[in-house]
Amino acid sequence: MSETRGNKIKKDPVTPDDLVKLALEAKDSAYAPYSGFHVGAALIADDGRVYTGCNVENSSYGATICAERTAIVKAVSEGAGKIRAVAVTSDSETYTVPCGICLQVMSEFCDSDTKLYLANKNGQYIEYTFKEVYPQSFRLHNV
Ligand code: THU
Repeated sequence: MSETRGNKIKKDPVTPDDLVKLALEAKDSAYAPYSGFHVGAALIADDGRVYTGCNVENSSYGATICAERTAIVKAVSEGAGKIRAVAVTSDSETYTVPCGICLQVMSEFCDSDTKLYLANKNGQYIEYTFKEVYPQSFRLHNV
């Protein structure tokens, strides 16, 4: 699956298992010397391009960037449009749920039916829609 990392267009359909596998691979790059908790994410954009990300910590803890946001910023900065699906995994035995900041950032680029594959460290996952995990989000129209 490594050939799908980065922003390459993949012709075959990218399956949920593919995305989870890529998220697990991305987790290996996590820079987490403070928490010791490694997180990986992989997403597919509307145009079929796949992006991955890991958490990148900082000695000023608040400057830490989560895996999901790493992947999203990579995608959007490369011109990706809407996000079709996101897989997230971590060192945990339980399914990895994105933090509130990541959900808020996702709400900018995901639709209510964007798929979320929340995986554990073994690659087992539960599938949700974005709306199920984050039913209400702050949008500019709320201002
Ligand atoms: N983390 C993520 O990468 N994604 C989340 O959604 C939750 C938390 C990271 C941030 C930090 O590096 C570590 O997990 C512990 O909080």
